[in-house]
Amino acid sequence: MMLRFLVSLLVLASCKESYKIAKAEHTVASARASLVRQEDTIIFALIERARFPLNSPTYNQSYTFISHLQDSILDFVIRNTEAVQSKAGRYINPEENPFFPKNLPPSVVPHYPFSHFLHPAAALININQDIWKLYFNELLPMFVASGDDGNYAQTAAADLTLLQAISRRIHYGKFVAEAKFREAPQVIEPLIRAKDREALMKLLTLKRVEEMVVKRVEKKAMVFGQEVSLDNDVKKGGTYKVDPSIVSLLYQKWLIPLTKNVELEYLLKRLD
Ligand SMILES: *[C@@H]1O[C@H](CO)[C@@H](O)[C@H](O)[C@H]1NC(C)=O
Repeated sequence: MMLRFLVSLLVLASCKESYKIAKAEHTVASARASLVRQEDTIIFALIERARFPLNSPTYNQSYTFISHLQDSILDFVIRNTEAVQSKAGRYINPEENPFFPKNLPPSVVPHYPFSHFLHPAAALININQDIWKLYFNELLPMFVASGDDGNYAQTAAADLTLLQAISRRIHYGKFVAEAKFREAPQVIEPLIRAKDREALMKLLTLKRVEEMVVKRVEKKAMVFGQEVSLDNDVKKGGTYKVDPSIVSLLYQKWLIPLTKNVELEYLLKRLD
């Protein structure tokens, strides 16, 4: 009996395709673990962008008219980077959402068999335009110094890395919502049918977990953003590469609410 069980485990493990698919299934716990890991990516990307001052010519179309570009340097870098990444298969992964989805060239590489964990309607949800506006109008001025050091291409690349990390986190709400749905369809389905946004949002809100996230990212920003030297122990209350209170504000004010908005929009389409 035991032996048969072990043999079937081995067969399962050696069957590459089913392993891939099994690995890609999410639970609420595994989706949460991914969100925790993504905090590191976001905080490091904030630190990398904060190395540069605002560098406003990066965002200025008039500045690039001099060199006959239609776009700002930022638009130019992002459009072209996304095109190359799309050809290399980046957007085959349902976790990735482009900022310029129009006219994106198709992938030219073999498609990895990502699992069909999400409902197909997930592909219709892309709130990157809102993220873009929020990023440039509100977030960026909060955590970069004013000034201009001429590193416009590097600045645009740092913006893109950070925007992608933020976008991935927010759109990951689709996976969180699907995992929650699968764990309690009998509770969630009637609310979706009734289009009861308020009740759904209440179901998606766990104040205790949200408060933990906000505290944890602030702590991570202190740990990741401190000056490390061999002589002294880690300093407390020193200066950080990015202000920890801004990281917690970013989560509290935007990342958590927008992720929940994506979760809600996804659930409302879940039975289509
Ligand atoms: C944009 O660039 C042009 C040309 O360099 C400059 O005249 C203009 O003041 C800039 N606009 C802003 C908002 O910085």
